[in-house]
Amino acid sequence: MAPLLTFAFCIASLALVGLSSAAPPEINNKTYEYIVVGSGPGGGPLAANLARAGHSVLLLEAGDNQTENLNVSQWFNFNAAGNDPATRWDFFVKHSNDAAREARYLHRTWRKTDGAFYVGIDPPAGAKPLGIYYPRAGTLGGCAMHNGCLTMNPNDVDWNDIAETTGDESWSAENMRKYLLKLEKAHYNSTSVHGHDGWLDTTMLDSGYAGFEDARELTTLAAQAAGYKVSDTTSLLTRDMNGNQPNRDNLVGPFGGVSHINPNGRRSSPGYYVRDTVALNKYPLTLALDTLATKVIFRSTGTNSHKKAVGVEYLQGKSLYSADPRSSPNATGVSGKVYASREVILSGGAFNTPQLLLLSGIGPRRHLEKFKIPIVADLPGVDQQVADNYEAGILSLASRPVSVGQNIFPNFFKSSVGKIRDIYMWCGNFAFEGFWPGFPNTPASNFTSDYGPREYECALVHMNPRSQSGTIELQSTNPRDVPVINMNFFKEGEEEDLTAIYEGVEWVRSWLGKVDGGEGGLAPFEELHPCKGTIGKQNCTVATQKRYIKEQAYSHHASSSARIGADGDRFAVLDSAFRVRKVAGLRAVDASSFPKVPGGFPVLPTMMISEKATDVILQGLADEE
Ligand SMILES: Cc1cc2nc3c(=O)[nH]c(=O)nc-3n(C[C@H](O)[C@H](O)[C@H](O)COP(=O)(O)OP(=O)(O)OC[C@H]3O[C@@H](n4cnc5c(N)ncnc54)[C@H](O)[C@@H]3O)c2cc1C
Ligand SMILES: *[C@@H]1O[C@H](CO)[C@@H](O)[C@H](O)[C@H]1NC(C)=O
Ligand SMILES: *[C@@H]1O[C@H](CO)[C@@H](O)[C@H](O)[C@H]1NC(C)=O
Ligand SMILES: *[C@@H]1O[C@H](CO)[C@@H](O)[C@H](O)[C@H]1NC(C)=O
Ligand SMILES: *[C@@H]1O[C@H](CO)[C@@H](O)[C@H](O)[C@H]1NC(C)=O
Ligand SMILES: *[C@@H]1O[C@H](CO)[C@@H](O)[C@H](O)[C@H]1NC(C)=O
Ligand SMILES: *[C@@H]1O[C@H](CO)[C@@H](O)[C@H](O)[C@H]1NC(C)=O
Ligand SMILES: *[C@@H]1O[C@H](CO)[C@@H](O)[C@H](O)[C@H]1NC(C)=O
Repeated sequence: MAPLLTFAFCIASLALVGLSSAAPPEINNKTYEYIVVGSGPGGGPLAANLARAGHSVLLLEAGDNQTENLNVSQWFNFNAAGNDPATRWDFFVKHSNDAAREARYLHRTWRKTDGAFYVGIDPPAGAKPLGIYYPRAGTLGGCAMHNGCLTMNPNDVDWNDIAETTGDESWSAENMRKYLLKLEKAHYNSTSVHGHDGWLDTTMLDSGYAGFEDARELTTLAAQAAGYKVSDTTSLLTRDMNGNQPNRDNLVGPFGGVSHINPNGRRSSPGYYVRDTVALNKYPLTLALDTLATKVIFRSTGTNSHKKAVGVEYLQGKSLYSADPRSSPNATGVSGKVYASREVILSGGAFNTPQLLLLSGIGPRRHLEKFKIPIVADLPGVDQQVADNYEAGILSLASRPVSVGQNIFPNFFKSSVGKIRDIYMWCGNFAFEGFWPGFPNTPASNFTSDYGPREYECALVHMNPRSQSGTIELQSTNPRDVPVINMNFFKEGEEEDLTAIYEGVEWVRSWLGKVDGGEGGLAPFEELHPCKGTIGKQNCTVATQKRYIKEQAYSHHASSSARIGADGDRFAVLDSAFRVRKVAGLRAVDASSFPKVPGGFPVLPTMMISEKATDVILQGLADEE
């Protein structure tokens, strides 16, 4: 209960604070050992670590500094943060090339003639479709400044597969765990060994089990449905999802929820790590905010046909990228060039790293030729194979208000088509139906998703989806324009992936159907979707429900858009040491690097590979000597 009160107090005291808007440092024509583009979970820790190891580093970040914005710093405000124009970058994507299917997406976003958004399927006259909203953050610290803070080390096979396909054993789950221990400052007890000296605070949320009878009833039923005894429930709710239990990939049922916050609810993230590294004033880290990298500069090396990355062109000015809701086409920015004596590292995230590669002449020949971009390296993988988790939910209304406090316990499920546990879910007194401007509540249209105090949802994340067919294409050669993104959901493996999600929904129904329906009880639950009706008395067909799930699925874990792969892999953009193939002096380190979307949530694995990249780069230097 104590943390809840703390958070409530923080919201009550939410007030404007003076945010620094110091001019970016003079960097034009300067040289640093390393230039890192993007300060999110991929680039932020890497830049700070290299500087702490004594190397001069320039960190370019298109966004500004919102570290003290209370929307951002107080984890509990994450929904406000996600909608805050000071941090958000608005992307709009397609899920398919099927126009009729796109038109049925219930939260499709449109631009009305007055410039405001409309969300829904019945737009006013003159409105233009923008697509399906895809949230991102363009700010110091990247998306980890407005995300939900769920912190999960992926399943072991996710790491072991990288080791196996590349032949690089340093990617094994066992070895990767040392990066988790290095970066974390764990504030919770676990039966597994954890790190306590890192820069990332991790806290296990109070399950609320003791304080709320409804929470006790629901979590106990979930535990039983997973095959546990009633008496196991309390210990399951503090079970460590980031532990190294044997056979952890097959452990199902409730767990304790780990978040990248401190025990007082303050967000911890790469943005704060960078801020603190700069503030110490003793490391050679130069942070240039409001600076959009527009192109990598190459030089012929002479040694082989490979060109070497030697610097970056940029534009400096507030909100220059057009995904920034504060951007204006009138602001032009000041251009410049800056040089790297050792390496350039791209960490712009899953949409921006491939965009920057393409703008720099690295990508599929046909794509570059279409935009008359001189080819530096023909890499067919740069505009495709974008991966993502599928998300869906079973949302229902109990017969009276649900009183579970902050009980939003994570819960793993293994479907009949999963090789390992394949559905991650979290359940609680909320309604989460995807993303649109204004999510999760009343959007700009008449559509509303605030269903009041009776709402109860289990939000589902399908891990390891079988389709990895998303595409990213330049809209123009203007680096301020957003690229065109089509996630191509369910293009492959549709039947199996829909079966997995459907079985997850059915599994939740199986235990919601056992909730007490007597006098004053929570049951029966009136399900809103995917099958409208009273739980236990529904008669939707499986096909109708799968169709609903397919058409209304959403996502926000984009990855693999400039991915690692084996030497013979035609679509591999990077080798296992993050080096961009067919050029020298260039690496990419962020969510786009993963061969497949990692686990249930990508933020922790992205920070882990940032630590790994630090190791790889510093080890390379040591080997040179
Ligand atoms: C609303 C929301 C909620 C989420 N919740 C969770 C969660 O609870 N748990 C979880 O694990 N994951 C969550 N995620 C996903 C997770 O935050 C991302 O996967 C992760 O941040 C990816 O890190 P990244 O470094 O690859 O890229 P990003 O976080 O996108 O960072 C990229 C940075 O690069 C900057 N940049 C881009 N292009 C340029 C350029 N050309 N020049 C200069 N700078 C540039 C951007 O401004 C940005 O700051 C969430 C994401 C969102 C949007
Ligand atoms: C960010 O802004 C805060 C105040 O709002 C300031 O204390 C801090 O030094 C700034 N950090 C950087 C790296 O700009
Ligand atoms: C850039 O720096 C180099 C050497 O440091 C100098 O010779 C050159 O004149 C500078 N160019 C500009 C445009 O400032
Ligand atoms: C927090 O975000 C909301 C949008 O979600 C915005 O209206 C508000 O101004 C922000 N508050 C602060 C303190 O920046
Ligand atoms: C961890 O366990 C120790 C010893 O039992 C206890 O003192 C401490 O409060 C526990 N910490 C947390 C965060 O539960
Ligand atoms: C851009 O400039 C034009 C002409 O100066 C002006 O009419 C317009 O309002 C400006 N737009 C914005 C978004 O500031
Ligand atoms: C808005 O919602 C109300 C109540 O559900 C409904 O009566 C009305 O027709 C809706 N208006 C529009 C423009 O859709
Ligand atoms: C089942 O479906 C049929 C046909 O759609 C409908 O008439 C009937 O009322 C439904 N029964 C229940 C219990 O919802």
